Amino acid sequence: LLNERKIAVIGFGSIGRTFVRLLTEKSHYIKKLAELRVVAVADSKGMVLKPSGFSDYELIKLCELPRSGLRSLPESLDLDIDLLYSKVQPDIHVELTPANYETGEPGLSNIVNAINNHAHVVTANKAPLALRFSELMDLARKNEVKIGFRSTVMGGTPLIDMLLSIRSYSVESIHGILNATTNFMLTEMHEKLIPMEEALRRAQAIGIAERDPRLDLDGWDSAAKIVILSNVLRREIKLQNVIREPLKVELSDIAECLRNNNVIKYVGALELDGKAYVKPMKLSRRDPLAGVDGTLNAVRIGTTIGEITLVGKGGGRVETAHNVLDDVIGVML
Ligand code: HSE
Repeated sequence: LLNERKIAVIGFGSIGRTFVRLLTEKSHYIKKLAELRVVAVADSKGMVLKPSGFSDYELIKLCELPRSGLRSLPESLDLDIDLLYSKVQPDIHVELTPANYETGEPGLSNIVNAINNHAHVVTANKAPLALRFSELMDLARKNEVKIGFRSTVMGGTPLIDMLLSIRSYSVESIHGILNATTNFMLTEMHEKLIPMEEALRRAQAIGIAERDPRLDLDGWDSAAKIVILSNVLRREIKLQNVIREPLKVELSDIAECLRNNNVIKYVGALELDGKAYVKPMKLSRRDPLAGVDGTLNAVRIGTTIGEITLVGKGGGRVETAHNVLDDVIGVML
């Protein structure tokens, strides 16, 4: 069929399900662009394949299964990405597995495998890019496929697109609130004077924290985003070179800030000399980042022709799913 695109969804947790639901909700609009068929859905234990494409009804039914529940279906198979590629040959590989900053796996191998099979890749998993950005981009170029990753930083707000649109500027620094979980926690702590553990429980309850919240609290998530932004600016840095100071804030620190009209924010930064860090900082109330509260993200970008501040959603499941879909549309067109 002309304009038919086969898509594999790898990773079926909250982002995976929200993305699949979004595909069904937007199917009328997507049909105007191309015939998009989901031919494979995989979670950590199993996979289901359908070369002709799952119907919207079948996709919704899959979304209703419990977590890691694909294997309970009679037609499911053990997870085997090679088998998946040989049976259904997807054109677009959507990687929504969780981030692992030690090895990048399983996302890294999945993405390499997809590119070697000449599939375009759309990833919301930051770890493979944070660990191997330039290698993956080179491999994609060699295989003439694209990698869409606009959901990895400030999911829901077009920061990466914006940075790519100002290539003639010299970016001197980026300071950002890039992690929604810790920003939400800090806002709760300042406004309600609750301890950090309680603030974390509230962040987990709204579903924004990583499955392992140390990735948020120890700065891995923000550091990975800084590495991705730096690479977008064509400055290669390594995740291990981002200095990370974990977020540890006592109520006494908050009280002191309130007395002095300051705010504590967990800031990720990239500076002109290549220095990159993530650390809790006391900001004056006049700083544009100081008033960015709750799950919002923000970046202050210093350029030779002036400062740009961008504030918006970052990483919620619905916003991220929209960016994943925009990347899918982007590689299709
Ligand atoms: N846990 C991340 C955050 C999700 O809180 O920002 C989006 O990357």
